[in-house]
Amino acid sequence: MSNALITGASSGIGYELARHFARKGHHVILVARQEEKLAQVADELRKRYQIDAQIISIDLSQPHAADEIFRWTREKSFTVDYLINNAGFYVKGSFTATSWDEEEKLIRLQCINHIRLAKLFLPDMIMKGAGGILNVCSTGSFVPGPYNAIYCAAKSFLLSFTEAVAEEVSGSGVTVTALCPGGTNTTFQDLNKRRGTFFFPIMDPARIAENGYNGLMNGKHLVVPGMANKMQVFMVRFIPRKIAARLSGFVSAK
Ligand SMILES: NC(=O)c1ccc[n+]([C@@H]2O[C@H](COP(=O)([O-])OP(=O)(O)OC[C@H]3O[C@@H](n4cnc5c(N)ncnc54)[C@H](OP(=O)(O)O)[C@@H]3O)[C@@H](O)[C@H]2O)c1
Repeated sequence: MSNALITGASSGIGYELARHFARKGHHVILVARQEEKLAQVADELRKRYQIDAQIISIDLSQPHAADEIFRWTREKSFTVDYLINNAGFYVKGSFTATSWDEEEKLIRLQCINHIRLAKLFLPDMIMKGAGGILNVCSTGSFVPGPYNAIYCAAKSFLLSFTEAVAEEVSGSGVTVTALCPGGTNTTFQDLNKRRGTFFFPIMDPARIAENGYNGLMNGKHLVVPGMANKMQVFMVRFIPRKIAARLSGFVSAK
């Protein structure tokens, strides 16, 4: 049986990804800050799916967090067959008003530490000729995001990185996949305050997880779950970037 290491597994899409991997018979290593929540999830998955579930409570916005996780897996002799870089948060507001401290943490979490985890775990996967990495990006990866500037820039960075490495490793037996959800019903960005619309429906995190899992297992480089999100990502190619930025800013400012 293989091991999947999932960041941000204490809630939302990460929790659903953990459930989906466990349901399919993978052992899981769950990573996030809230130890108690992780322990509850691990307990639930062990009981329900008879798999092994380990937890690592760590703040991924801190320097060297990825190296600590790697060291932990080496000390316990765990191989990581699937790496799921999912943990994330959101800094909303005009760039001149937002907190640099929060933005620096966002960049460390969603860019540096996730990429560092890939750097550390990918070589073993390549050597075995099996396994994969799923990077959770966003439909925001495809557009500049006024009032979300750092978040969208970080997600664009992660998407570009993912597609580039996916191409580098193609034919090796290892898959690298970008999962790009749109609005999803989690605690993220206080979605309770946001209403879904025809163009921006809010999706169920379990469906996002299933789409991501299937895409990874089927060797896809890019997965955009849901028809409305697919249409949005397709149409944005034909809109001048300046207009796309204005529309995106209009939606974010609401
Ligand atoms: N929901 C959406 O509308 C949406 C849309 C597009 C993309 N996404 C992406 O989907 C991913 C998951 O988001 P979600 O919607 O599932 O949100 P969520 O329910 O808020 O979950 C975020 C997860 O990330 C973990 N996390 C946050 N900061 C962390 C840190 N510093 N160190 C370690 N773990 C940390 C949280 O756990 P702890 O608090 O326990 O650390 C939690 O498990 C994110 O990358 C997000 O950008 C979400």
